[in-house]
Order: sequence, then C-alpha cells, then structure tokens
Amino acid sequence: MQAALNIIGEDLTLVEHQFRKDLQSDVPLIRKVGEYVLSSGGKRIRPALLLLAARLSGYTADKAVPLASVIEFIHTATLLHDDVVDSATLRRGIASANTLWGNEASVLVGDFLFSKSFSLMVDVGSMEILRVLSDATTVIAEGEVMQLLCTGELDLSEAQYIKVVRSKTAILMSAACEAGAILGAVPQSQRQALADFGMDLGIAFQLMDDILDYVATEEEFGKSIGHDLEEGKITLPLIHTLQQCNDSERTVIAAVIEQDEMSLDDFRAVSGLVKQYGGITYTVEAARFYIDRCKGHLELFGPSPVRDALIGLSEYVVTRNK
Ligand code: IPE
Ligand code: IPE
Ligand code: MG
Ligand code: MG
Repeated sequence: MQAALNIIGEDLTLVEHQFRKDLQSDVPLIRKVGEYVLSSGGKRIRPALLLLAARLSGYTADKAVPLASVIEFIHTATLLHDDVVDSATLRRGIASANTLWGNEASVLVGDFLFSKSFSLMVDVGSMEILRVLSDATTVIAEGEVMQLLCTGELDLSEAQYIKVVRSKTAILMSAACEAGAILGAVPQSQRQALADFGMDLGIAFQLMDDILDYVATEEEFGKSIGHDLEEGKITLPLIHTLQQCNDSERTVIAAVIEQDEMSLDDFRAVSGLVKQYGGITYTVEAARFYIDRCKGHLELFGPSPVRDALIGLSEYVVTRNK
C-alpha cells in the first residue's frame, strides 16, 4: 500500500478535491449525504487501481484524476444502495446513511451519484471507457440481484458464489484497471491483462471481506460483525462449512439464518463451526489463489516501481483488517 501511495499520493489528494467539486448540486440534501459518505474515509482502492493502471500504461495526462473520481462515485452509489438492501447500520465506522436519513434518501442520492458519474464520464470523452464503465455498472446491478436471490440458499455452490462476487464487486475493480489501460492506449493484450488483474484482485478482496465479517473487530472493520450471517448471506466460509458439517450442525446453521435477529450466542455457535471446519482457512487460501494469479497478469509489463506498487496493492488485499 505504501509503495502505491508514494507514487499516486498526490493524485489521490487531487481526487478528493475533484469529487467534492463533482458533488455540487442545488439540492442541499444531496450535498449533505454525499459529503457525509465521501468524507467518512473509505480506502480509495478503486481510484488507486485506476491511477496505477494508467501510470503502468504510460499515461501521464490530466484525465486520470477525474476518472478516478468517477470510479469512487460509482462505488459510493453502490454502497448507498447496498446498505439499504442489506439493512446495514454501520459503514466506515459510523452510522450508515440509511440509518441517519432513511432508505428513501439513500436510494435517491445513490441514483444521483450514478447519474452524475455518467455525465462525468461523458466529459472525459472516451467512448471505450464509457462502454467499459457502463457495462460494469450493469453487471454490478445483476450481481446484487443474484446475491438477493441466493439469500438463505444453503446449497449455494462455490462456483455460483464466485459468480456473484465477480459481478457485485470484482467487475468494478477490473473496470478501474481497464479504464487506466484505455487512457494509456496500450495494446489489447495489455488491456486484457490489466482487466484480469483487477478481476482477480476484486474476487480476493470480496473473499477477505467475507472472512472479516466473521473474524474482524467492529472498531477496525468499521462494519457490523456477523452481519452477513444475520442477513442470510451465504459466503464462502459458510459454504465450505455447510459442505463439511453433519446434519444436526446444518440444522443449527439453518435456524440462525432463518431468524430475523441473531443473538451473540447464535453468532458464536455458527462462527465456531466455521472455524472448526476450516471455513476461514479455506477462504484465505482461495483469496491467495486469486492474488497469486494477479502477479502473473502483470508479466506483460516490464518491471517497474508502478508494477511493484500494483503487486503490493494485491498483497495488501489478503492482509487487510479493514
Ligand atoms: C466495500 O468496499 C464493499 C465491498 C466490495 C466489500 P471497500 O472495502 O472498498 O469500501 P471502502 O470504500 O473502503 O469503505
Ligand atoms: C459489496 O457488497 C458489493 C457492493 C456494494 C455492490 P457487500 O454487501 O458484500 O459489502 P459490504 O459488507 O456491505 O461492504
Ligand atoms: Mg452490504
Ligand atoms: Mg450486499
């Protein structure tokens, strides 16, 4: 992470200014909610990916910063909607927007951010980038709907789950990298390599997030622990456990998933099974598998500090605790 910050730290500061500017609206509630979420300290991993991919592709002109801002706008819009769908109360260590302003305001401000991102993309003026990012937002919506349909599905397979993860999370990271490659006008093979890098990194990122939902502390993670389970989200640690455990343990898990409210004892019972059956270790290994592939994708680019920074970022994904 530090290597990345050394290279793009200044640009990331410019991105912060850019999205404050882009947030302007005559409707005060939009500014208020938007400012609240954007100022609450996200990791900015998607803008970082875009900026580094652009640099790796040899791009040094002025469109990377506005585009990086667009990517964070899209991400923010998905978070506003996702927290409504997931009934989340905590985001980035503070009350989620839906908790403070209600579901209606969160959905509508999310819509504003989505629409605004498309106007900003048009300003950047690349039809190819517009294509990649608009395809990505369509796939994210599909991913979120697929996730909804998988809620409470105890027989969800790993392959089905990874498909959801690619769509709801990894595609935006892939699109961020691909947009950087398009800015740099690299050959198709390198563009594909960067898109693949972002995809594999994104899958690992979500798998680590799923682990953190079982093992992190709320203070570090900034989100409620056990919330996936409470909401009936069957993530990889639990998929693995369900495939290993016996019938009576499966009944225990099913009962916790079906309840609307989950007690601490319920959570402890299920997370105990997840640990006992190696659900965490299995998922770390799966995330590692995707991160190990990341390095290989960048072999089409010669060695450089920017390439090292991207590899460093991929390593950060499997060691993060927030
Ligand atoms: C949260 O993404 C949504 C997931 C894909 C798990 P981040 O963990 O990148 O969120 P922020 O922007 O850093 O808060
Ligand atoms: C991540 O959703 C993907 C999107 C926000 C589109 P999750 O529901 O898994 O992520 P968190 O845990 O709310 O950040
Ligand atoms: Mg969520
Ligand atoms: Mg969700």
